[in-house]
Amino acid sequence: MDTIFYKDFFSQEEIEQIKAVVQHELETRVLVNNEDFTFIDTNNIVEQNYLGRIVMQGVPLPKNIVDKVSGLLSEAWKFDVNPDLVGITYNMWSNKYGEPELVSHIDKNTLGLIFDYQLESNTSWTLGVAETPYPMNDNDMICLYPTRDYHWRAPKKFKDGEYVSLLFFEYAGVGLSPDLDEDRSRLAIAAREKASQL
Ligand SMILES: [Fe+2]
Repeated sequence: MDTIFYKDFFSQEEIEQIKAVVQHELETRVLVNNEDFTFIDTNNIVEQNYLGRIVMQGVPLPKNIVDKVSGLLSEAWKFDVNPDLVGITYNMWSNKYGEPELVSHIDKNTLGLIFDYQLESNTSWTLGVAETPYPMNDNDMICLYPTRDYHWRAPKKFKDGEYVSLLFFEYAGVGLSPDLDEDRSRLAIAAREKASQL
């Protein structure tokens, strides 16, 4: 599948809008722990120690922000019926919550398409799709097919205080089923090792 990279996606004003909503959610939700990656919880902040992150599902971003991302579907989606937005999820990765790690994998759900948007960071953490590493900066975004494209983060040991925060804009529609493939998996794992930031 085609991976599309969007450099410097939102305007400064839009970024401020997003950060205000995220900040409000972070201040008003309760932190709970849930290690099950299939969880659905749009009320709390969920801590996942095995991945080294916190997650907030159902971030209520304003319409202009959502529309700007959804407006990309016509170029990003390769099938007939446009998928529906099913979730906007905030993630923050830091060693406060465990050792951040994302091994090469494809998602085992029915998500069709995901836009990974890097909101804020104070360190670099390369994102990989299949064999291609993408060094991400704040305000960069990548579109991928998570049940088809093996994706990963470079091996990296986060120092105290380092963090990377992201938003996932998730779209489902025709429900692409997971497409496991040993050769593609092996190539993605090798690319991840090569991209190590240790
Ligand atoms: Fe994934």
